[in-house]
Amino acid sequence: MVRVLYIDCCIRREQSRTRVLAEAFLAALQAKEAYKVERLCLMDEPLAPLTEGFFAQRERLLAEHNLEHPRFRYAHQFSQADRIIIAAPFWDLCFPGLLKIFIENICVDGITFGVGEHGSFGLCKAKRLLFLTTRGGDYSHSPLEMGARYLEALCKFWGIPRFDVVAADGLDLGREAVQTILDRAIADALALVENF
Ligand SMILES: Cc1cc2nc3c(=O)[nH]c(=O)nc-3n(C[C@H](O)[C@H](O)[C@H](O)COP(=O)(O)O)c2cc1C
Repeated sequence: MVRVLYIDCCIRREQSRTRVLAEAFLAALQAKEAYKVERLCLMDEPLAPLTEGFFAQRERLLAEHNLEHPRFRYAHQFSQADRIIIAAPFWDLCFPGLLKIFIENICVDGITFGVGEHGSFGLCKAKRLLFLTTRGGDYSHSPLEMGARYLEALCKFWGIPRFDVVAADGLDLGREAVQTILDRAIADALALVENF
């Protein structure tokens, strides 16, 4: 059984076009018996940024090598998944801050990465991470796009060898029907289901 962790950061929930893309991929994946999907909806989680006492607690736990504290559950869940899917819209040239807060919470020395003589190394089991996104403008070839590029870099940090992104670009430009753009992205995503 391949354990898939699906991280939903589609802030607009039922209104989200990114979620439409993600659900199309998940439906096709779940039709295959080999995959078991675990869903983590970030909007429903008590996620907090690292500030004040929450930051200090983390420093203390890391100094004590206490990695079993409940606050590290997201990091353990992430590091143990066989495949990871993240769905998030394009916001302010990146993705919503909620996903960054989640990333802050899972980047834990000794769980998702380690540090050795030659620098850091990844500790995540996942063989691949798929990022599904939709964008108002067309950033498919733009150096201003920081969301997918950042996640790709993080995959190297976490030790996840393969990163893919499927994006529906230009949804708010009015040049093409939203459904046409979404259908194209869904087709691109479905092409990745085989051998995922
Ligand atoms: C807060 C916010 C910030 C956004 N920032 C950008 C942006 O920087 N560039 C862009 O092209 N579109 C931007 N958009 C538009 C979204 O990327 C686009 O509408 C996307 O499809 C929204 O995804 P959703 O339907 O899943 O919520 C932004 C939208 C919101 C609500």
